[in-house]
Amino acid sequence: MQKKWWMESVGYQIYPKTFYDTNHDGIGDLNGIYEKLNYLNDLGVNLIWICPFYDSPMDDNGYDVRDFFKVSEIFGTIEDFRKLVDKAHELGIKIVMDFVLNHTSDEHPWFIESKSSKDNPYRDYYIWHEGKEKDGVKVEPTNWGSFFGGSCWNYDEITDSYYMKIFSNKMPDLNWKNEKVQDEMISVGKWWLDFGVDGFRIDAVSHLDRDEYIDVEGSKDKYPLDWHKFSNLPKVHDYLKKMHKELFKPYDALTIGEVGGSASIDQAKKYAGFDRNELSMVFNFDHNWCNNLFEVTNPKKLKTNVKQLKETFNRWQEAFKEGGWLPLNWLNHDQPRLMSQYGDYKYPIESGKMLATALHMMRGTPFIYQGEEIGMTNYPFEDVNDFNDISSKATYTYELEKTPDDSVRALKVASLRSRDNARTAMQWDDSSYAGFSDVKPEVLYHENYKKINVENQLLNQNSLWHHYQKLIDLRRHSNYHDVITYGTYHQLDIDRDDIYVYERLLNNQKLLIINSFTRKKVFYDLTGYSIEDVLISNYKNQKYKDQKIMLRPYESIVLVVKE
Ligand code: NOJ
Repeated sequence: MQKKWWMESVGYQIYPKTFYDTNHDGIGDLNGIYEKLNYLNDLGVNLIWICPFYDSPMDDNGYDVRDFFKVSEIFGTIEDFRKLVDKAHELGIKIVMDFVLNHTSDEHPWFIESKSSKDNPYRDYYIWHEGKEKDGVKVEPTNWGSFFGGSCWNYDEITDSYYMKIFSNKMPDLNWKNEKVQDEMISVGKWWLDFGVDGFRIDAVSHLDRDEYIDVEGSKDKYPLDWHKFSNLPKVHDYLKKMHKELFKPYDALTIGEVGGSASIDQAKKYAGFDRNELSMVFNFDHNWCNNLFEVTNPKKLKTNVKQLKETFNRWQEAFKEGGWLPLNWLNHDQPRLMSQYGDYKYPIESGKMLATALHMMRGTPFIYQGEEIGMTNYPFEDVNDFNDISSKATYTYELEKTPDDSVRALKVASLRSRDNARTAMQWDDSSYAGFSDVKPEVLYHENYKKINVENQLLNQNSLWHHYQKLIDLRRHSNYHDVITYGTYHQLDIDRDDIYVYERLLNNQKLLIINSFTRKKVFYDLTGYSIEDVLISNYKNQKYKDQKIMLRPYESIVLVVKE
């Protein structure tokens, strides 16, 4: 069995803009991360993924990079990052940066050159195409839709042509068919690895190639979004193999690709199989939408589809049981908050702890998203102007077009799915502005910080925070380190829609992980098991009747059982 440091790690994802402000401008910064390193060390994580902090016009909060070698002024300086990396390393914490390969900002010098004339040396750094004639007018080269709404193409007057952009107009896609682009991006990666970072989370990695430019058929939409046109195409693997050979392997860098909802398990294995020489692992989102989110407008009507969730986890765990490795995360900066998505507002502590246990006991490398460890929740949006996120605004506009007379519905739909939910200020304490900043934040902050904040959870031994700390400690430092990290995973009682149960097994150690996903009391039959110990639980004193354990609302328990 392959063993690597990153398989034995627990990660923590930071969205720098909303983590902690130290320079009194109401926006989080690198020094804010530096100041909270001890906090993260106390929580127990030893790997941090920091979302982009490159110089950027911030059309998409930094995923639109203007200069890959410069730190954005709003986040600090390269010296601040030096200090952060050095202190993290002293604490034994590795640092992973976000590496944006698919696109740049339209303000990047390459694009400014590229658009200036058809024979500019940088022209082929991006994907340019002539428009086509339709009914006597010039239209986009294809009808493909983009992720953030509208066409995948944007018209540029200077050369009377269109450039491709699968995200926003301000994020032109790089042309990976051009070897110069490949080499430039390898140089960017080398520069940061030489600086001392330990690896990359690679943004939108599945989109580095395009299919033939043929219209999407059979949709009523003007610009139908069919991501197959720009996802998981064969050439992406050639590009990654080259990067692996010239960049990732020589530096032994950790690489976690974002393959989104677009990659099937077979495709994911092609990116992250141990024998593939491409990426260390890939994030997938299949488990992020196992509820009726797309059918309801009232957050209280959200209902977790437990069977679908279990089946999803099972498929990925089974597929990666050998020959590859998985990251484990409930959410990231693009998804709604876990407590609002799958938690139960009537049982926040119990359901929060149960969800944490269910994920952290699986095989893979867990990643906690900032604020998850204290159970932060979605934001109560009241106005479309509350949205900062470009895609939330686009969803609102799209929904309003469907029901022009019902802006309330459009706002509710956009709110439930909004990426801004995960991007509110981190709730550090109950002082003004959640202890995030000492001036009025430039970012949203949730009024419930008075109740949900780090400070009071640190003081309360029974808090969600302490549960996360214990889970991390069990995985990293306990006698069960090996079985939790490398043990096999086997799901039981697949057909039950009230509980999620699985076993982990390694040599002579066996764990039974039982999680109730319901408010009701339910039983689980333990006949045949000889219980040696309770490793972690979210209730005191388990209740047994005959050979059965009675699970209270959202009870979760990890049992050490005799093999
Ligand atoms: C995925 C990132 O997670 C998301 O935040 C971003 O908007 C897109 N890629 C484009 O870079």
